[in-house]
Amino acid sequence: MNPDIRALFPGADEQVYLDISARALVPEPVRAAIADHLRKRMLRGGDKDAMRAVVEETRSSFSGLIGARADEIAITKNVSEGLNLFGTSLPWEADDNVVLCPALEHPNNIYPWHNLARLRGIEVRTVASEDGHVPAEAMAAAMDERTRLVTIPSISFAPGFVTDVKGIVAAARRVGAVTLVDAAQSVGALRTDVEELGIDALAVATQKCLLAEYGFGFLYVRRELADTLVPAHLARFGVALGAHETEYVDDELRYALGALRFDIGNYNYLGAAAAGAALELLAEWQVDRIEAFVRRIAAFLADKLLDLGLPVAGGRPGPHLAHIVCVGKSGGGRHYSVDDPAMKSLWGHLRAAGIRLAIRNGTLRFSVGVYNNEDDVERVVEAAREWRNRQG
Ligand SMILES: Cc1ncc(COP(=O)(O)O)c(C=O)c1O
Repeated sequence: MNPDIRALFPGADEQVYLDISARALVPEPVRAAIADHLRKRMLRGGDKDAMRAVVEETRSSFSGLIGARADEIAITKNVSEGLNLFGTSLPWEADDNVVLCPALEHPNNIYPWHNLARLRGIEVRTVASEDGHVPAEAMAAAMDERTRLVTIPSISFAPGFVTDVKGIVAAARRVGAVTLVDAAQSVGALRTDVEELGIDALAVATQKCLLAEYGFGFLYVRRELADTLVPAHLARFGVALGAHETEYVDDELRYALGALRFDIGNYNYLGAAAAGAALELLAEWQVDRIEAFVRRIAAFLADKLLDLGLPVAGGRPGPHLAHIVCVGKSGGGRHYSVDDPAMKSLWGHLRAAGIRLAIRNGTLRFSVGVYNNEDDVERVVEAAREWRNRQG
């Protein structure tokens, strides 16, 4: 992207920051929006109507980003809350099943299903990963008429490959199952159109590619489906009331329209201010341009690391590669560890050279943001070459 964009991220020059898949560097306008919110709270206590208006603007901007309508978006505090709210609202019957590929799921998209197995007697049907990919054919083969839900990551947290969402959605539709996408690693980095993908629900939080804060997220649920669901948690914002009514009336309980029924109590208004400012930036920069950029920088990094002889997951760049480049053996370690001593040593060397990256699932994970550039890649390659030469 252009240098003016990078200049909005003072952290980008402090280090080589390749860790957006953990959390993004926060841009200056987001910091300013947070400061402005706090100043108003500090001096005047804050205006609730104005704060709620910010939430609604944020909901609307987010819906625009993913090709949805505002009443298809619930406000959540993180990905897990979105996944759980949706999962618990489905009309499960004992022995229904959920199909997933746990080796490529974040633990937060595994636990909820085991909990539903305990609570509702459902079956958690697991599919093995194939070379770091969620295998569309094996997922389809695992589905049957008792499959109520299929859940997938749009991009896995490691090794970071793009999932064949459309292929898996088509198979789920054939058996009448609904689809839930953990989009923690893609929205904001990859163009996402929920209608084009044909998905039923999607959960994301704002601290990664949405360039804002922890504690704020979104749950998309397709309107026609949402209107049939019974939320497991309910408070006033999830009930169909007039704008200023909050009082309980002993009347027929009517849920708010669509996904709005999943909103619970008061919002994280500070998180909304941050997300609103970030979504404005993303709209200005345009997500397809962001996607083209981060894919190009990630491919450049992957090629250079492969040229040095490093084991880049997935090999040469292809359609599987988005903004995440992992080095090492996927699964060769636990969530935050890497077993291979050579990779551990490379990690230490890169960190000492001022490079910020992550260890995930046995790999060294580099993740590219809108604020990175080719020089960042060159610095990684230089440090990795130095390490390799020292190894002899
Ligand atoms: C794919 C994926 N899902 C979920 C999460 C986290 O979930 P939550 O926002 O609920 O903590 C992460 C990363 O933190 C992730 O990479």
